[in-house]
Amino acid sequence: MAKPDQPRSLDFEDLEDAAANSSSNPTIGDVIAERLSRRDLMQGMLATTAMTAAVSPAVLLAACSEDTSSTPNFNFPEVSAGVSERHYVADGYNADVLIRWGDKVDKDAPEFDVKAQTAEAQAKQFGYNSDFIGFVPLDGNARHGLLCINHEYTNEELMFPGINPKEKKSKRFAEMTADRVAVEMMAHGGSVIEVKRDSGKWSVVPDSIFARRITAATEMEITGPAAGHDKLKSSYDPEGRKVYGMLNNCAGAITPWGTWLTCEENFNGYFWNKKAANASPHAVALKRYGAPAERYNWGQYHDRFDIKKEPNEINRFGWVVEIDPMDPDSKPKKRTAMGRFKHEGAANLINKDGRLVVYQGDDQRFDYIYRFVTKDKVDRASREANKDLLDEGTLYVARFNPDGSGIWLPLVFGTGPLTEASGFTDQGDVLINVRIAADLLGATKMDRPEDVEANPQTGKVYCMLTKNKKRTEVAVDAANPRAENAFGHIIEMTPDGGDHAAPTFRWEVLVKCGDPSVAEVGATFNPATSTSGWFANPDNCMIDNEGRLWIATDGNSAATTGRTDGLWALETEGQARGTGRLFFRCPVGAELCGPCVTPDSETFFVAVQHPGQTEGDSVSTFDSPSTRWPDFKWSMPPRPAIVVITKRRGGKIAV
Ligand code: FEO
Ligand code: CA
Ligand code: CA
Ligand code: CA
Repeated sequence: MAKPDQPRSLDFEDLEDAAANSSSNPTIGDVIAERLSRRDLMQGMLATTAMTAAVSPAVLLAACSEDTSSTPNFNFPEVSAGVSERHYVADGYNADVLIRWGDKVDKDAPEFDVKAQTAEAQAKQFGYNSDFIGFVPLDGNARHGLLCINHEYTNEELMFPGINPKEKKSKRFAEMTADRVAVEMMAHGGSVIEVKRDSGKWSVVPDSIFARRITAATEMEITGPAAGHDKLKSSYDPEGRKVYGMLNNCAGAITPWGTWLTCEENFNGYFWNKKAANASPHAVALKRYGAPAERYNWGQYHDRFDIKKEPNEINRFGWVVEIDPMDPDSKPKKRTAMGRFKHEGAANLINKDGRLVVYQGDDQRFDYIYRFVTKDKVDRASREANKDLLDEGTLYVARFNPDGSGIWLPLVFGTGPLTEASGFTDQGDVLINVRIAADLLGATKMDRPEDVEANPQTGKVYCMLTKNKKRTEVAVDAANPRAENAFGHIIEMTPDGGDHAAPTFRWEVLVKCGDPSVAEVGATFNPATSTSGWFANPDNCMIDNEGRLWIATDGNSAATTGRTDGLWALETEGQARGTGRLFFRCPVGAELCGPCVTPDSETFFVAVQHPGQTEGDSVSTFDSPSTRWPDFKWSMPPRPAIVVITKRRGGKIAV
């Protein structure tokens, strides 16, 4: 569990690392170990050569076969990995700051005054730490559109003076007055901004009619099978259909009809009163969801975040939220059909049968990968017709078999063990406590599933498994020699028959991450990967318009891998499969998020999250930060910001 002497961002790492899943389902480590050991025996590869130690069977197989790539290779000069106060992008590209924490979103937002910030000002200005960026073109224009950007969480030690992130939590919370908490609440949520490219340069359109801030106080509607459930009723909402705010929104997606799916992740951190947990009517579920985690002290000032005063409020967070960016007055909707867990993302595509399929990771150590399939087809002609499409469908959880097959297990009340005998009352109940339902189905415990992306050109689905340091020796064998998965790996899934709604799939480890030159690490990048091209801790990912995979990382640092986080290109096909290459590098302390590509492939938007965050033995604060990126002014702490990347001479990126 979290230590009392670390900054908020590391608290969140602990929230995700905390092993809340006590079910006896096999872990993905168990499964990979079993699978690879069997296959390697078959292939006579257990007499370990330097090659087999460093390279996955998949890479070896690819290397022996003809190059049958259906996607072009990446083409750009690689950035050197390292650590510094600044960001770097590949030669021949520009990487310019587009918008920073505190910049204007609403047209009547005041100028940012970091030393006298107020909740009223923050509610109109760009919020803190962004994980997701989505681009919605206006009138089909690739150079003019809306950016949908979330604000996942806040680093109080970098936003306000006088807070030492290594102090005890009680001392840090003593500095977090009601006024500061109010600022934090307004720095959460999301922003919609209008952006335009003129004469090659992108900028935010001032006074846009689409500009909008969403915060921890924005009224939202609860929809789908759990709406109106007894477990969702609160003193301010006896109907169980209305809630204020969205919290800890991590990755997300844009739907084919142009709405924004933004996903609540570590909501447990916002709830207060651990002492009351055992007496709660939701005691079992609270434990399974690691709540209340008391990472924020909002519960000291707001009753709804105290689980004793408002026991059901926590059930109203942990959902996928759908927002219509074209209508700034529209009410965001929490879509309960997609389940309640620590959602990382909501990668979606139209299946060959016309229905929408949404892939989702539950980002916690030993938790699961989910898939949602809508009941009805997407209406490609009418945006309005898809308005409530996400309220009906079937949610599944993944089981990975040792032989390389996989199965999607439906989470449907009344089927299998999901009955009253197991304590479930109805489908709403299954969705509210879907982790417990997934435990009963025997889903496979994963190494922290982060972002998932589906490649519409190849049909392959990629899941980032960021790390799981608690894998035990029991899960280790000669073919998968990592007792502690500190660096993460990437799984490639192929739906059977090219049908994303099929009950089964095949799977393969694309790459095990970390430094391939250190044998004990057991990384499996393609040997063509340079010393800058490997990475650890894959988190967000993107498939570009050419069908190529890009990986944004969270967890690299001077101490862990000798490099900051950044954006890497990763080849997935042919002889180059498993080759990484560094394209963009963050300033110290930051993780890289987004990324997002425009339809003309000429622009990437990326989010630099928590620049200057404390790492290792250092202490980085508002008063004395490790970097003052991106302003580099003595009067300004580091600011999370969105960066726009374009080719200096124009043209498609990395082609
Ligand atoms: Fe917000 Fe999965 O990290
Ligand atoms: Ca993440
Ligand atoms: Ca993320
Ligand atoms: Ca992460």
